[in-house]
Amino acid sequence: MDGKKVLYSAIQPTNNLTIGNYVGAISNWLKLQNDYDCFFAIADMHAITVRQEPAALRSKTLAMLALYIACGIDPAKCCMYIQSHVPAHAELAWVLNTFTYVGEMERMTQYKDKAARHAENVNMGLMDYPVLMAADILLYQAQFVPVGEDQRQHLEIARDIAQRFNNIYSPTFTVPEGLFLKVGAKIGDLQDPSKKMSKSAENPNGSVFLSDDRDTVIRKFRRAVTDSGSEIVFDPANKPGVSNLLTVYSVFAGKTVEEAERDFAGKGYGEFKLAVGEAVADRLAPVQAEQARLLSDREYLNGILKSGAERAARTAGRTLSKVYKKVGFYQI
Ligand code: TRP
Repeated sequence: MDGKKVLYSAIQPTNNLTIGNYVGAISNWLKLQNDYDCFFAIADMHAITVRQEPAALRSKTLAMLALYIACGIDPAKCCMYIQSHVPAHAELAWVLNTFTYVGEMERMTQYKDKAARHAENVNMGLMDYPVLMAADILLYQAQFVPVGEDQRQHLEIARDIAQRFNNIYSPTFTVPEGLFLKVGAKIGDLQDPSKKMSKSAENPNGSVFLSDDRDTVIRKFRRAVTDSGSEIVFDPANKPGVSNLLTVYSVFAGKTVEEAERDFAGKGYGEFKLAVGEAVADRLAPVQAEQARLLSDREYLNGILKSGAERAARTAGRTLSKVYKKVGFYQI
């Protein structure tokens, strides 16, 4: 719009987000929103590729918007909207389906994982998930897409589809680049730091949710596994537990890892874990309060969604009409 480069990302409004999602996604978006023309979507159409309880999906969708804003994503700077409010996503996905091979989709690792986990419901949408995601990104001519490592393959296929279309017709889509952010991009499970903290971990003490109350947060950090020895130093190979906690602390206390090491030099694990828990709880409390306040102001949130969808639809519509012309759809 104003000469800034376009950045696009989305989160599915499914499970509770963990502090790993906060560090890996939202905290990065906060930094990016000033420098890019940002679109942040709530991917409800992706969410239904596995069965959802309708009432829960509805309330989680709104809760996600309130969370974005409560975390500091500024609706005056960023376009926030719900994917299903902008029909161009489904429309472009259909066209892109005809430029995507079945074999490519069958090889996607996330599809294979999910198909194994939801063997009773291996639906076409689950297989088509990466094409819808490509449509999301390409509609906005996004240059940059900040995502986690787990989305690398999906981003790669979005680039392939864009290039394929551009080569067959003429340049139509910006070929997007993934922004795989390194700093704190991976928060480990508190019970098994070699694994990524996940929304659906086997051990619920391993994951800290953005919705956890103070006591729960502190209890989970108190129980976090540490390593042999007693020194609090950042050494992921030999001290994965302590290093993970130092990463969490540095992000939530707004310090560098070196500063964090200095803060805890000579201190014991007990005191350290309590301080990490407190730093996280201190940051989450105002976010949770603001999210609750926003959720009680439905009119305000609906207003954001309405103007977000309008703006998104204008941008997306421009791309979609180019595509429709190029493939030979008759225009009146
Ligand atoms: N698939 C992404 C995830 O699960 C969410 C997503 C949907 C997305 N559409 C997107 C991310 C477009 C980036 C760009 O994390």
